Amino acid sequence: MSKHWHLDYHTDHALLTLDVAGQSVNVLSQEVLQELARQLTELETQPLRGLIVRSGKASGFIAGADVREFEKITDPARAAELAQLGQQVLARLAGLPFPSVAVIHGFCLGGGLELALACTYRLAREDAATRLGLPEVRLGIHPGFAGTLRLPPLVGDLAALDMMLTGRTVSAREARRLGLVDEIVPERHLLHAAEAFLRRGAPRRQAPWYRRVPAWKPLRQLVVRLFAPRVRRKAHPGHYPAPWRILDLWRDNATAETEAQSLGELLVSRSSRNLVHVFLLGEELKRAGRAQAHGIEHVHVIGAGIMGADIAIWAAHKGFRVSLQDQKPEILARAVKKAHGFFKSKLKEPRAVQEAMDRFMPDIEGHGLKRADLVIEAIVEKVEPKRELFRQVERKVRPQTLLASNTSSIPLEQIGEALNDPSRLVGLHFFNPVAKMQLVEIVRGARTSEDTLARARAFTGAIERLPLDVKSSPGFLVNRVLMPYLVEAVKLAEEGVGIVMIDQAATEFGMPMGPIELADAVGLDICLSVAEELAQPLQMDVPEKLRELVSQGHLGRKSGRGFYQYDNRGRHDSPAPDKTAVDIPVTERLMLRLLNEAVACLREGVVTDADAVDAGMVYGTGFAPFLGGPMSYIESLGVTGISHSLHRLSQEYGARFKPDAGWLRPELLKRRLRPSDQP
Ligand code: NAI
Repeated sequence: MSKHWHLDYHTDHALLTLDVAGQSVNVLSQEVLQELARQLTELETQPLRGLIVRSGKASGFIAGADVREFEKITDPARAAELAQLGQQVLARLAGLPFPSVAVIHGFCLGGGLELALACTYRLAREDAATRLGLPEVRLGIHPGFAGTLRLPPLVGDLAALDMMLTGRTVSAREARRLGLVDEIVPERHLLHAAEAFLRRGAPRRQAPWYRRVPAWKPLRQLVVRLFAPRVRRKAHPGHYPAPWRILDLWRDNATAETEAQSLGELLVSRSSRNLVHVFLLGEELKRAGRAQAHGIEHVHVIGAGIMGADIAIWAAHKGFRVSLQDQKPEILARAVKKAHGFFKSKLKEPRAVQEAMDRFMPDIEGHGLKRADLVIEAIVEKVEPKRELFRQVERKVRPQTLLASNTSSIPLEQIGEALNDPSRLVGLHFFNPVAKMQLVEIVRGARTSEDTLARARAFTGAIERLPLDVKSSPGFLVNRVLMPYLVEAVKLAEEGVGIVMIDQAATEFGMPMGPIELADAVGLDICLSVAEELAQPLQMDVPEKLRELVSQGHLGRKSGRGFYQYDNRGRHDSPAPDKTAVDIPVTERLMLRLLNEAVACLREGVVTDADAVDAGMVYGTGFAPFLGGPMSYIESLGVTGISHSLHRLSQEYGARFKPDAGWLRPELLKRRLRPSDQP
């Protein structure tokens, strides 16, 4: 009896359909692979013209290996053994005495693509949902079912390395161009086309000889040297070993056995464990964004500045009808121009660009309010103008319209005082730049209703952002945890530590950019206003240096000068330090301020648990994903050690390092989500 695979015989061929029981998406668990092996035992003996492999799920072909099984494996040798078992099953598929065709729609990723690669031919459904790729590197591993061996001969070595090193997915059309699929076919013809391939017995696809030139032995080392700087920019070898392993395997002309062995080592590494944790946190937030209907078609955004324009553009890009209002026509004109540029770069096809532009309406008078299902306010960060605005808005909108503010620091309750019905007001706190930062904090005010929160989450999910619930309190989660770290960086600079050195300390730790560079990028005026807003509740000093630079008009990258000087392409200089700071524990001071604040947020219930802190900081700030987020990092270091260090720093540098009371409450600091506990 077969639970996941269904085998049907037709006149001269067989049709094998994967429909993993009890799941909406096909994944290759051990059980699914073992069952495939049993199906192959039967198929191997049949006198057939060919085999068609397809998915029975609407969601797609196969999304990859079952990530939840990863954490159960703790021994590298056992992990390698499992990869080899997978390799053997796929080798049997590849070695059938008749040809096979994989019929692909939707997601065909990781182990799923490796399975398709083991078939003689691949056909892809012609639509935008079809995506193929080997994203393993994003989980700190690489393909392990002989994908690193099967891909290069098919698409050429440079294209294969690019796909594996970046983990990017390709559309059906690009896959066809690369030679990854043999044909793109409209849905209704897919099975016919597959049968035709089996009958015709077309020659097996191979990359043309010139795409295989890099594989010539004398060239391999050179190619690796060409790829290395690109990889180094994204992946510190000590933090993210997987892409380096991919290069090694390719350079050394790996075998299935070495591929499996290398995978085994990576799978149990800290980097991969944490990247899987981060991935699962993201999946959990995605689920929260899908849990309910939002009933939103028309979004009205007020304030077309940095944030408002970007939010409106993004929502229109994701299919919503959007009207964008501002007091100033020139600001709206700038937003329209920006929207056009954005849609053109993303969508390319003139018709799609036109359709997106049709959904995006500049609206100086605010006519859109009457039709809006959601209003997002993104005007100046001052309470009185916001209140006044919402007072007017409430009079014009329909009763079911959801009201949202993008405020980054004003308590929602204060804005809500202007409303007759504050239960419909929620915070939708986006991060800058909206198109890049995945997180949106869903801010719950004291009077925000459950239904309002659920719709806000669902809207966030619908625009493919990750909704994270936070309590309305100063700085919410992300800015609050980040600010003491930024302030500490400025203090270090005031003490004479070179800003390059400060930034290097943070990037060496694993942050995507240094705190000084980050402050310059956000804008020192914005940093100053958030720091001032948080100074009193967090009992934090605002460094003089920050005020000084802002008063001199040095606002960071946008003004050409902040802590760094910028050229007209936005690149900064590297000033030499005033003195060497050998005795100053730069990394420790930066990171411990951040960790201490993360614990304070948990103690105050700003978010529900440690996992929410990790998700917020990784998806909202890019906090070192290979460490899994601040709370995972704390778990790996141990609470006692960190508390001791905080005590020591507080004696040396002052009360700001005093350990938060939350460190004494282990139940608060515990991570909830573990891959093996997943449903
Ligand atoms: P901004 O100054 O770039 O834009 C504000 C816009 O609102 C201006 O174009 C102004 O003309 C318009 N405006 C002001 N009052 C108005 C009114 N009554 N009716 C219509 N339009 C009006 O500001 P930015 O940076 O976009 O910030 C907007 C909001 O987003 C603030 O609440 C801020 O705290 C928040 N935020 C800002 C982030 C950032 O990185 N800049 C990040 C996350 C949130």
